[in-house]
Amino acid sequence: MLDSGIEVTEEHIRYYRENGFVQVDNILSPAELEELREALDEVMGADGGRSLQTSSEGSGYYRVLNQRVNTWRDHGGMARFVLSSRFADVARQLSGYNGVRLFHDHALFKMPGDSKPTAWHQDWPYWPMNEARAMSIWIALDDVDERNGCMMFVPKSQRIRNLRTIDLVDPQDLFADEGAKEVDRNSAAIVKMKAGSCTFHDGLTFHYAHANTTERPRRALAIVFMEDGTTYSGAGHACTDGLGLASGEALKGGLFPKLA
Ligand code: SIN
Ligand code: NI
Repeated sequence: MLDSGIEVTEEHIRYYRENGFVQVDNILSPAELEELREALDEVMGADGGRSLQTSSEGSGYYRVLNQRVNTWRDHGGMARFVLSSRFADVARQLSGYNGVRLFHDHALFKMPGDSKPTAWHQDWPYWPMNEARAMSIWIALDDVDERNGCMMFVPKSQRIRNLRTIDLVDPQDLFADEGAKEVDRNSAAIVKMKAGSCTFHDGLTFHYAHANTTERPRRALAIVFMEDGTTYSGAGHACTDGLGLASGEALKGGLFPKLA
């Protein structure tokens, strides 16, 4: 496992709780960044395992994201990062959750060519959870800016609930939703980062990623953490379908390990 020891400042915590996201620089050392890039490149091409490629080349979704879910189940090098307490512990401190479990990881590549933005959305409506107490770390494995798919976040939008799930291939306008009336898209922060840095965002925070107009993939690893005790809502999801979970049952056990 990675050492923990990332200094989370009072300012990081205050900023996250107020705005629903925060940037944390250099969460990886240069050597760790190289190691994670190598593991990620290996696992993206590995078919037939326990991770899940959610879209095939040429599909509408692939133009938005070349995504593989639960890379940690296929590659020990990915598990070393995904299951580390370093990221989970920062998530716990920022959120104030009473313990943090893994929901899933996902490698998120924006491919060069006919790349589409990741439309404005909230993550939580996609997740089969009763409680809205889940969040993500998004680690940049390449330097990111508006040309290759950096993220944008709307400060304070994590307070907005009960919005619909956005179709990322044929997106609706999240801001047009009646419940989003008070959210000002012009206040969105554009988060440019160096590789090895990251953001944390609440599952309800409005976010977006630019299209990749460069010649190289934009590589990111996101890990979804939930508060220990979060329960299954019964909704369909690739990570819970087929597990025989009863609605209202806690998401726990070896597939959803407690990390912090
Ligand atoms: C992206 O990486 O393009 C989007 C990530 C997210 O929606 O969390
Ligand atoms: Ni998202």
